[in-house]
Formats: sequence, structure tokens, C-alpha cells
Amino acid sequence: MTKQRLKSPRLRLFVALDLPDEVKAGIATWGARELTDPALRPVAPENLHVTLAFLGSRPERDAERIAPLLARAAGPAPVIDLGDPEPRPRANRPRLFALPATSPGAETMQARLVELLVADGLYDAEKRSFWPHVTVARVRAQSGRSRRPRTVERPPQKLPPGLSEAFHGVRMTLYRSELQPLGARYVPLAQVELPGAGRQ
Ligand code: 2AM
Repeated sequence: MTKQRLKSPRLRLFVALDLPDEVKAGIATWGARELTDPALRPVAPENLHVTLAFLGSRPERDAERIAPLLARAAGPAPVIDLGDPEPRPRANRPRLFALPATSPGAETMQARLVELLVADGLYDAEKRSFWPHVTVARVRAQSGRSRRPRTVERPPQKLPPGLSEAFHGVRMTLYRSELQPLGARYVPLAQVELPGAGRQ
């Protein structure tokens, strides 16, 4: 048997709450103005989401076990309120900028999802508490071998009033993340539409 056949294929998996198309478009329009610092790598509009659980590298067959858990964890479409961009870490040398997402509904859904994943041995719950957010840009590393993030001279400013209005998350999706030279590509593997989705 070849080495290739002995290795069980693995996938980089995560579950996310998807945003309405008009919200992703609004963030992209704002980002075209505010995420222009050369040290920033804006997240592509189709990749904007609220991560609920990052499962990391899992055997391929786990995807089939995770898919049915989405429907069990899903609830009514949660109301989401986005806040102005924040650097993370907050102190010096942020690695990313994200919009904090206030959403008790998303927190409930995330807790239920994590409970189901942990019960089935599919996930080690993170020690840090859940911080719902939408990452809008990552900070490029310094050139050379250093992995230190570059300095961002012009951090993104506030969201326009339209984007500060609450909306509903639209679906819960299990994604496979493919890391590519030009950025990550997220491929949906299973999805559950959330009842009551649509802008408030
Ligand atoms: P982020 O939005 O906070 O960057 C796919 O990579 C998604 O999984 C991203 O949206 C990212 O969340 C999240 N992710 C990637 N690596 C992670 C890690 N080590 N821990 C938690 N979440 C991670």
C-alpha cells in the first residue's frame, strides 16, 4: 500500500453564521474606503462571516458527522448588531481588524453547537469565551522571515449608519477552508437556512 493511501485525508473545517448579501456588500463598500492601508489584507466579501466553531484539521469523514448537528443547533435567525472596527489584539501590533457582533441569538446557537460537537468528540471547546465578530482585514507580516505583523498607519474608521442597523444572520454553514497563495477559499459542505432571516 502506498504512503498516500495509508494517510486518512484531512480537511480544515469550521462552522459559521452567514451574513445577508447586502451586509457583505455594505462592508465591502466601506472597506474599499477604510481598509486601504498597505499593511492590511481585506477579507474578500464572500468570506465575511461570524465564526461559531473553528474545528481545525479533521479527518474527512468527520464532515458527514458534523453536518446533521447543524440542524440540531440551529434556532431562529439571530439578530446581529455590528459595531465599529476593533484591532485584535488590542494592545500593540494587531493581527486583525474585526467588527464586534452583538447577538445573544448567535451566542445561544454557538453554545448549543459546541455542546453537540463536544458530546460527539468532534471538537475541543476553546478555553477563551466566544467573541462573536466579523473579521474584515488581516495585517500582513513584515517582509523577510519575521512573522510580526506590520504597523498599520491608517486603521479603519467607523461604520456608516446603514451598517450599524441590526439584521438577521441567514444560515449556519459547515465550511472547508482551503489555504491558497492568494488567500483562503471557503467551500460550503453543509448548510441550514435559519427561519425568519431577512433584514429587520
Ligand atoms: P476569524 O474570523 O476570527 O479570523 C476560517 O479560517 C475561519 O476560522 C476564520 O474566520 C477564522 O476566524 C477562524 N479561525 C481560523 N483559525 C482559527 C483558530 N486558530 N482559532 C479560532 N478560529 C480560527
